[in-house]
Amino acid sequence: MRALDPAQIAANDIYKLMIGMIVPRPIAFVSTVDAAGVRNLAPFSYFTACGSNPPVVCFSTSVRSGPRPYKDTLENVRATGQFVVNIVSEELAAQMNMTSAEVAPEVDEFQLSGLTPIASDLVKPPRVAESKAQMECRLFQIVPVSDRPGGGILVLGEVLRFHVLDSLLDGYKIDPDKLNAIGRMGGPTYVRTHDRFDMPRPK
Ligand SMILES: Cc1cc2nc3c(=O)[nH]c(=O)nc-3n(C[C@H](O)[C@H](O)[C@H](O)COP(=O)(O)O)c2cc1C
Repeated sequence: MRALDPAQIAANDIYKLMIGMIVPRPIAFVSTVDAAGVRNLAPFSYFTACGSNPPVVCFSTSVRSGPRPYKDTLENVRATGQFVVNIVSEELAAQMNMTSAEVAPEVDEFQLSGLTPIASDLVKPPRVAESKAQMECRLFQIVPVSDRPGGGILVLGEVLRFHVLDSLLDGYKIDPDKLNAIGRMGGPTYVRTHDRFDMPRPK
């Protein structure tokens, strides 16, 4: 066992440790709009649920070095207080990856990737029509964990509406094979969600 002190390790190496250790990570494919209504779409794998009552999800945007430290997604959430999380199934993997290109704020990643925007019910950012499950969210809180390059700014949002493809649902249970979600490992590696096992909780 090797003990590693983060204070002695460069930020990009700490990042490698974390994305190698915290696996697999689900992917929030986040759609937003800026104050003028320009659309944005980007994936975030520092993503999870924070509670179900009320339903709250969170994702973390990392801080860059250089003149534009904050990701467009974060700037848009700050400006509008709204976002949509679209779940990424394997069929969307390549297009999801295209939207992670570091492009100028005025670039619409829906156009870049060829994905289809459809109107949300309650928030301005559109949903990704090709995504089989989506969550319309209202900003709950932004937690600036660190403003250093590589630091995280955590965005928490309350889910105002869930959208799930009918064919996935048995009551409120979602069929994981039909959802076919992917997760992210380290670097360019992803996982499928077909290899599962069941283990009932102890009484
Ligand atoms: C699968 C995947 C997961 C990613 N996860 C994160 C993440 O959790 N946090 C982050 O800041 N960037 C993450 N990125 C990089 C962003 O998607 C990328 O910086 C993107 O250009 C940000 O877009 P924006 O500036 O339009 O918000 C990820 C990229 C990929 C492909």
